[in-house]
Amino acid sequence: MKQKKKVSSREVGLKIGWLCGEYFLKMEHLHYGYWPDDLDVDITHLRLAQEEYVKFLTSHIPEGVKTILDVGCGAGRVARKLISMGYQVECVSPSPYLTEQARQSVGDQCRIFNCKYQHMETDKRYDLIMFVESFQYISLLKALKQTARFLNPGGHMLICDVFKKDMKEEGKQKGGHLLSSFFTHVEACPFKLIEDIDITEQTAPTVDLLNDALVNVGKPVMDSINEFLADRYPTIHKLVTWKFRDDLDKIDKKYFGGKRAAEQFKQFKSYRLLLYRKDS
Ligand SMILES: C[S@@+](CC[C@H](N)C(=O)[O-])C[C@H]1O[C@@H](n2cnc3c(N)ncnc32)[C@H](O)[C@@H]1O
Repeated sequence: MKQKKKVSSREVGLKIGWLCGEYFLKMEHLHYGYWPDDLDVDITHLRLAQEEYVKFLTSHIPEGVKTILDVGCGAGRVARKLISMGYQVECVSPSPYLTEQARQSVGDQCRIFNCKYQHMETDKRYDLIMFVESFQYISLLKALKQTARFLNPGGHMLICDVFKKDMKEEGKQKGGHLLSSFFTHVEACPFKLIEDIDITEQTAPTVDLLNDALVNVGKPVMDSINEFLADRYPTIHKLVTWKFRDDLDKIDKKYFGGKRAAEQFKQFKSYRLLLYRKDS
């Protein structure tokens, strides 16, 4: 019998993030944004921080690049920007919902591989393969192997993403490959490091903003729904909260514990822009 495909909690999280961000904040992207010193840290400025991030990112595209593969393209707005800058772009997007959004962003001018990067197959080779906050979702070895395979000789890999620092404890926030493990594995691949820029300081303010939103809005909304259900359906409510007590406890600690803040982020994570050239 064919097994039913499980819905990924990450994809559900990204979909909710996109729906809320686009509707309430007019956000264009799913990344953290980049906060320069002169931009006030305020949730209504997140859209501007995301624009700054895209400027920062695109300013690191090497000269001579013509073809780009945007792996984990989200809603396709980075791809759309790249197309407007004259690059020939293709995308990878495993999420049916985000692929649909991306399709609307880029129209028919760009191919979208609707699959995980690990499973992508093509004879095409690219000048640049970029991972904009998507590297963390892909198995490290497979991501490197596929990238070495799909790059033209002399082509570049551009990663802009969160990594975990080498610490005994793990912070409350999950996500990101271990940076030391990344460096070990990339050394065994045919890549030469061109740029390594730490932008943890410039991305961390978003963590505080998300934390505030979760604590001040997410938590009271959840509590109100909970109170309502306990009042109307006491028996079912008791049964469900008992059966899923561990999951509910985890969600409460992870999202509403007030711990997903910038200081923790800076302690346990390193957000890097990494540019590598594939040896010819
Ligand atoms: C945080 S979002 C970033 C989206 C977009 N790059 C942006 O900056 O707005 C992560 C993206 O990675 C994609 N993703 C997750 N797992 C993936 C995989 N195995 N292969 C390719 N993309 C993946 C998600 O569908 C999503 O588009």
